[in-house]
Amino acid sequence: MEYFFILGRNPQLSYAELQCYFESRGIKFDVMAFERNYLLLSFEKEIKVDIQEFGGVVKVGKILYRGNDNNFGKFLENYIMEIDKFSFCVTGSSDSEELEEALMEKFKHERIKAQVRHGRNKMLLQKGEYVLMPNADVEFFFYKIQAELFFGRVEQDYSYTEVKERDMHKPFRRESLAISPRLSKILVNITQVKPGQLLLDPFCGVAGIIQEALLKGVNCYGIDKDKDAIESAKKNLKWLSQNYKLEANYTLLNADSKNAPNIRVDGVATEPALGEIVRRKLRDNEAKEFIERFERMIVPVLKRIVQIKKPGARIAITLPYIREHSVNIAKVCQMTGLKKIEIPGVESPIKEVREGQFIAREIVVLS
Ligand SMILES: C[S@@+](CC[C@H](N)C(=O)[O-])C[C@H]1O[C@@H](n2cnc3c(N)ncnc32)[C@H](O)[C@@H]1O
Repeated sequence: MEYFFILGRNPQLSYAELQCYFESRGIKFDVMAFERNYLLLSFEKEIKVDIQEFGGVVKVGKILYRGNDNNFGKFLENYIMEIDKFSFCVTGSSDSEELEEALMEKFKHERIKAQVRHGRNKMLLQKGEYVLMPNADVEFFFYKIQAELFFGRVEQDYSYTEVKERDMHKPFRRESLAISPRLSKILVNITQVKPGQLLLDPFCGVAGIIQEALLKGVNCYGIDKDKDAIESAKKNLKWLSQNYKLEANYTLLNADSKNAPNIRVDGVATEPALGEIVRRKLRDNEAKEFIERFERMIVPVLKRIVQIKKPGARIAITLPYIREHSVNIAKVCQMTGLKKIEIPGVESPIKEVREGQFIAREIVVLS
């Protein structure tokens, strides 16, 4: 059974997220294609996916036809639409326009009121390429691997409004420091923690990552050395438990994470403090000093985490980088006894750059 995933703005990161998610649930798959922001996976059997579980997937659907050109015509003839007035488009391969025309013919013949619509929405991918983000009522997916055709239809769209509501309505937001719900979900999935297990965020701030983990049924432990941040985190999580049905519990602690208590954690997802907020381009020597200061701060915390995490528990962490100045991961690993985890087919660390930011992020998985 094949499924296609239309990935978000950082396809490498989304691909890592999906792999970690399925692997942690024992769901085996083969990668049929991974191109631009399209991912085509083949599973042994039908899977149940809820797109809202992921931070990095924009659309998902099942492949309805897989086969050669000759039988595809017959398949299309028999393909029945359950609605009779809609806009549609085809995404995926360079031949999609031809297929749009063929579908148009078919719908006309069946007296169905259908019209092609792509819209103008575009998404800028991490590597600088723009991709169209159509907003038609029905979106088909078409992909060719040599002589084999794959045809499917989008079944689920990521609901930005739901996530945005959650983010905008919580009592405390710290835009300058907090990461998005999207990246929070991705980090949690990369740790491979499961519902009922315990996740630690040693730099929890106002609890952005914890919020997304709790909604997944993962128990959480948040630590922050800033008293005000912990007070705000408490209010945010109280709000969350009043507005969502939570099946997981949490503890928040105002402390320095290098002195974290003796808890046994199944995973760590975190965005550490970078130091002062940078509002201008740093010179090379300043950037180098910035990264070295970060390394001096993070090593004692990671050393403590090594003592309290269960064997094999993963740490999904964001690290700062400024142009060619990045954290020396090999040195950090050597000092802490941690190892970098490689995710097949994914660059490591994974770069996450936002336009206009002076400090970019690298995401790395350690264990
Ligand atoms: C980038 S913010 C985390 C943002 C967080 N994801 C959120 O949703 O608010 C980093 C946090 O780490 C805290 N911090 C810095 N050094 C720390 C340490 N050694 N132990 C615990 N917390 C620390 C800071 O007070 C800050 O709130």
